Parts: sequence; structure tokens; C-alpha cells
Amino acid sequence: MECKIPNHLAIIMDGNGRWAKNRELNRSEGHLEGSNTLIDIAEYCFEKGIKNLSVFAFSTENFKRNKEEVDYLMNLAMKLLNKKLNRLKKQNIKVLFSGRKEGLPNNLIKAIKKCEEETKDNDSGILNICFNYGGRSEIVDAVKNIMDKNIDKDSINEDTFKNYLYNDLPDIDLLIRTSGEYRISNFMLYQMAYSELLFVDKYWPDFKNDDIDNAIKEFNTRERRFGK
Ligand code: IPE
Ligand code: IPE
Ligand code: MG
Repeated sequence: MECKIPNHLAIIMDGNGRWAKNRELNRSEGHLEGSNTLIDIAEYCFEKGIKNLSVFAFSTENFKRNKEEVDYLMNLAMKLLNKKLNRLKKQNIKVLFSGRKEGLPNNLIKAIKKCEEETKDNDSGILNICFNYGGRSEIVDAVKNIMDKNIDKDSINEDTFKNYLYNDLPDIDLLIRTSGEYRISNFMLYQMAYSELLFVDKYWPDFKNDDIDNAIKEFNTRERRFGK
């Protein structure tokens, strides 16, 4: 039987802190390892033919963590953008960001803009990095955007509404959350309406290419009905 590859895969990359704790390391070392996992997994997903990959890297709620951890995550994001994403740029991947820019350090905002600009013509796949992102904020920001533009109310429907979200992305086919937590934690609520959900017990830094293969296998066993 033909193997279906999800067109849009989304991942809640959870468990960096617990991964580190189990090894008696600092949480930051878990985040560092997790960022390496992100690059490896993204590269593999695009090799497998996944066209859109969304990853949850930092939620609006993650600002509630202590300053040391938040600062570390901001710096790690900078490093990722300035160095580690080069591999993906070579793979002809377009990098997008979803999230609120307010509250982020200026140098990070600059790096985000630079990365989006440099990759805007790439067309082999899209990596959508959700950073300072909340699913509810995205919907609220879309409504504000519509109101600012005085859009005619009759032209708004479920499809056209998507044009006002942070990025114009297809619906999510498969969502993976690592770390054994069974929740959505305010991830891409609008895009996730009919996604298949897969919860994996491993912590994110332990997630490997095989786990992507297994997720795709599992996805192929799901019967999607969309209410029909
Ligand atoms: C996910 O790992 C990364 C971020 C949320 C930034 P966590 O930091 O949430 O790790 P746990 O859940 O505490 O193990
Ligand atoms: C979700 O993980 C956010 C990211 C992976 C970036 P959290 O660790 O923040 O979620 P909760 O607090 O367990 O719901
Ligand atoms: Mg967590």
C-alpha cells in the first residue's frame, strides 16, 4: 500500500528539562541538546518529503519561567538562527516565524527578520518556528488584524480567516508531542482542528529519525473522516 506522508507535521518539542534532570545536568543543557535534535529532525523530515514542519520552540506562557532560563532560550534561538540553520538553508528550506515579536530582545527580532528574508525564495519546504507563540494569541491577533484593515465581514469565512493568522499554512495533518504529556498547551489551535494526534513518551532530546518513521507508520493506520 502507498505510504502517505503528512503534508504538515507539527511537533511540540517537550521534555528538555526532564531529560537534563535525569542526567543531573542543568536545564539549559537539555535545551542545547534539544536544539540539536531540532536541526537533525527537521533535516530528516524534509528528506522524507514532508513539505511543512511547524515546531513549538517557546510559548507565550514560557515567559513565566525564571529569567535565567528565559535568557538562555533567547540566546539559544539567536545561535540557532545565525549558525545552525545553515544546513536547512542549503536544503532550500524557507524559514518562517509564528509568534509575537513584542517582548523579544531586539537582536533576536533582527535575526528572525534576516533569516526570513534570506530564505524567502526557497521552495523545497517550510520550517515554521513558533516562538513567543500562543494559539489563542494568534487568533486574537488575527481578529485585530481584520478589524484594523476594515475587512468586509461577509468576506470572512473559515478559509479566508487563515489569511490573517501569522503565516498562511495548510491544516496540520499530524501533531506529535514528546515527553509523555497528553495536552496541546495552546499550540496551533486553528490549524489543528482535524489533526491526528500522537503522544510519544520520549523526551525531546532523545527523539530520533526512527521516531519520525514510526510516526509516519502510525499516521498511515489512521482513518481520517473529517466528519464524513
Ligand atoms: C521544552 O522542554 C522546551 C520549552 C518549553 C522551551 P521543557 O523545558 O518544557 O522541559 P520539561 O517539560 O520541563 O521537561
Ligand atoms: C509547550 O511545553 C511549549 C513548548 C514545547 C515550547 P510546556 O512545557 O511549556 O507546556 P506545559 O507547561 O507542560 O503545558
Ligand atoms: Mg515542558
